[in-house]
Amino acid sequence: MARNIIIDTDPGQDDAVAILLALACPELNVLGITCVAGNVPLTLTSKNALQICELAGRPDVPVHAGCDRPLGRELVTAEHVHGSTGLDGATLPDPKMKLQEKHGVDFIIKSLRDGPEKTITLCPLGPLTNIATAIKQAPDIKQRIAQIVLMGGAYFEVGNITPAAEFNIFVDPEAAKLVFNSGIDLVIAPLDVTHKALTSKKWITELRNQNNPVCEAVAGWTDFFERFDSEKYGSSGAPLHDPCVIAYLIAPELFSGRRINVEIETKSELTRGMTVADWWGVTDRPSNALFLGDINADGYFSLLTKHLAKL
Ligand code: BDR
Ligand code: CA
Repeated sequence: MARNIIIDTDPGQDDAVAILLALACPELNVLGITCVAGNVPLTLTSKNALQICELAGRPDVPVHAGCDRPLGRELVTAEHVHGSTGLDGATLPDPKMKLQEKHGVDFIIKSLRDGPEKTITLCPLGPLTNIATAIKQAPDIKQRIAQIVLMGGAYFEVGNITPAAEFNIFVDPEAAKLVFNSGIDLVIAPLDVTHKALTSKKWITELRNQNNPVCEAVAGWTDFFERFDSEKYGSSGAPLHDPCVIAYLIAPELFSGRRINVEIETKSELTRGMTVADWWGVTDRPSNALFLGDINADGYFSLLTKHLAKL
């Protein structure tokens, strides 16, 4: 039976690829998409999610707008990475689909309460504001979530938005702290793993050779964000972060990691949003997450091409 998931997202080109991958996988049943402010403001992340569903030929997927700012801080966005639309690199038509009326947080709570226990996996790909708000409003859902598999954090790779912090956790560290301390079964795809999932000219060419509009859009997006990341990291490709979450769900054998304790720094301005990961087990703090550290990158990109080409 297909695994039920809710994708919580701030598209973002890499979020878009993650959503497309999920929609292409028969092993996954996307119950809905909830949008959050992150890479760009909420109005844009919501519009982008609609455009992505239409690109995939899936106007039936319910898309909900969620929180428009972090729990207790000003929103920080990342247009310098993703462009002013969040999806620069491929031009998609304005969406015909409409957003659902229900707030994203209410959709998460209702879906979890209505379905049988532990049958829905949450897949956060942006700041954790919607997830934390849902848990705050309805603590009973903690017992009902099958698993949370998220992209966020960094340890050996340290930060990408500050020297200490990864973007998703930095934007809303209080939300991250709440989720990381919730007792819910967590799998984390941090920069340590996504920085090993580097795009390449070969992969972009392979996508273009598929002659399909989805692969063409993904190639355009990849071309766009590769420029920024190659300059920043001096690498020939760019990390394709968020699809790691979806790839983990369908092919966990591509990944390895350790079950460890991960705490979030919220007080220090210098290290705000740092994921303090006890990789070496030097404390007696109990483990709260499977923290991924390695990926079979060739397997990951083959999986992406295989599925995206079907859309
Ligand atoms: C994360 O931040 C965003 O820019 C990407 O979409 C990804 O979720 C990487 O730090
Ligand atoms: Ca994202």
